[in-house]
Amino acid sequence: MPLTVQLKTPLTGEYTQPTGLFINNEWVEGVDKKTFEVVNPTTEEVICSVSEATEKDVDIAVAAARKAFTGPWRHTITPLERGHILTKFADLLQANSELLSAVESLDNGKSINMARGDVQSVINCIRYYGGWADKVEGKTIPINHETFHYTRHEPVGVCGQIIPWNFPLLMLAWKIGPALATGNTVVLKTAEQTPLSALVLAKFIKDAGFPPGVLNIISGFGKVAGAAISSHMDIDKVAFTGSTAVGRTIMKAAASSNLKKVTLELGGKSPNIVFNDADIEAAISWVNFGIYYNHGQCCCAGSRVYVQEGIYDKFVEAFKKRAQENKVGDPFDEQTFQGPQVSQLQYDRIMGYIEEGKKEGATIAVGGERHGNKGYFIQPTIFTNVTSKMKIMQEEIFGPVVAVAKFKTEEDVIQMGNDSAYGLAAAVHTSNITTAIRVSNDLRAGTVWVNSYNMLSHALPFGGFGESGIGRELGEEALYNYTETKSVSIRLAGPIY
Ligand code: NAI
Ligand code: MG
Repeated sequence: MPLTVQLKTPLTGEYTQPTGLFINNEWVEGVDKKTFEVVNPTTEEVICSVSEATEKDVDIAVAAARKAFTGPWRHTITPLERGHILTKFADLLQANSELLSAVESLDNGKSINMARGDVQSVINCIRYYGGWADKVEGKTIPINHETFHYTRHEPVGVCGQIIPWNFPLLMLAWKIGPALATGNTVVLKTAEQTPLSALVLAKFIKDAGFPPGVLNIISGFGKVAGAAISSHMDIDKVAFTGSTAVGRTIMKAAASSNLKKVTLELGGKSPNIVFNDADIEAAISWVNFGIYYNHGQCCCAGSRVYVQEGIYDKFVEAFKKRAQENKVGDPFDEQTFQGPQVSQLQYDRIMGYIEEGKKEGATIAVGGERHGNKGYFIQPTIFTNVTSKMKIMQEEIFGPVVAVAKFKTEEDVIQMGNDSAYGLAAAVHTSNITTAIRVSNDLRAGTVWVNSYNMLSHALPFGGFGESGIGRELGEEALYNYTETKSVSIRLAGPIY
């Protein structure tokens, strides 16, 4: 099979799409020469086929990453130079940002403006971690007069990274940034629904100056390549973003293989709380953005909205109007806010939840149907008359579907907000700073937004309480997922035992 194909996007015209596996700074076919089809969610048509990595390819990629880990990447390239390679990589991505955005829209279906936002965040994230490369410092620790103690933060080794399809490039950046800045090597598997943008990005790895084997990118399926990564005996750490169910499987695989380190960024069912004293216009915009951003395919989506009784009716009426104004359609139309869901499977899952909500007695205030007749489009949907035990209030829907409930007191809404196995994010809308701080303190969530939503930054740690995951990505904290602390103790004087 040729390792590229000529494709077109409405934005860039023709471009060369790599389709192979990127291992050891080279494009290769899989050992078994398997391929799989990539589907355009807007048209439901096949875009192209790409190589599928199997267990054998994972072994080859891990061997390349192991060799790179013990070579110049560890022993001659300085941390400063490592940082330069990352910033050069960011420069190359910046120079190709329109192409990367277009391919992201083509394969994932997200609107071109959201894709552009993602790509800029990718570049910022990689640049940010480039800056950290020579700033991961140990300590000297004073204990006694006979011994000199210090700590080093050494790279963990070969890291397996498994990412989802909702932010194909951004999840890649969150994972490779801290791993490479701290001197690890990487085998990253993209999601089978959206392999294309990462393959375009891989074109720039060699030119940025990464030595062969430092950053390997493979396409493949979870049960095959993903399982091979999480159970591999020569991978030192696995990082995963995706469903809670698969997170558990990965943790089990890590435990029963070589106890590789595990970080997990999983699902959510995040409460978005609006008090009587909130700026109601602004709150409606943030609630709208909180759920419908990225078509609701967002781990931190504000999918449970709680509105205080004094403004509930007014809020629901205005929110219904706002949701219907979101432009749904072709991702390449500059005016589009919401494109299609990523796949037939996700479309069916979401429509299943909508049916379930109706059966359980909730009311559809807006939407609830397919949009158009081609592509995996779903109308922005609002449920009212919901109770906390309903499936649509407990389970992650991962689509443009939100449930709105009424609350009386601050105490009640904290209890309602925390009534979830998840704990990824939450938001509070109020004009009272003390309410904002009290409620933020009491919500069990890794991120709390006050008077906003979905405002993420590469510099701010992100991750979950409870079943939303283990560990934090982004910011300085993410660096320590990718380092092992070594304590060195040097005897200077004193008795010999
Ligand atoms: P998934 O968890 O199956 O897929 C995510 C990644 O895990 C993909 O790269 C996949 O190939 C890989 N994977 C799947 N099974 C694996 C296994 N046994 N071992 C190792 N890797 C494996 O998610 P899926 O099926 O695409 O979506 C299902 C639901 O998961 C969504 O409806 C949503 O609720 C949730 N989800 C959450 C995400 C988040 O950002 N936290 C992202 C994607 C999905
Ligand atoms: Mg696709």
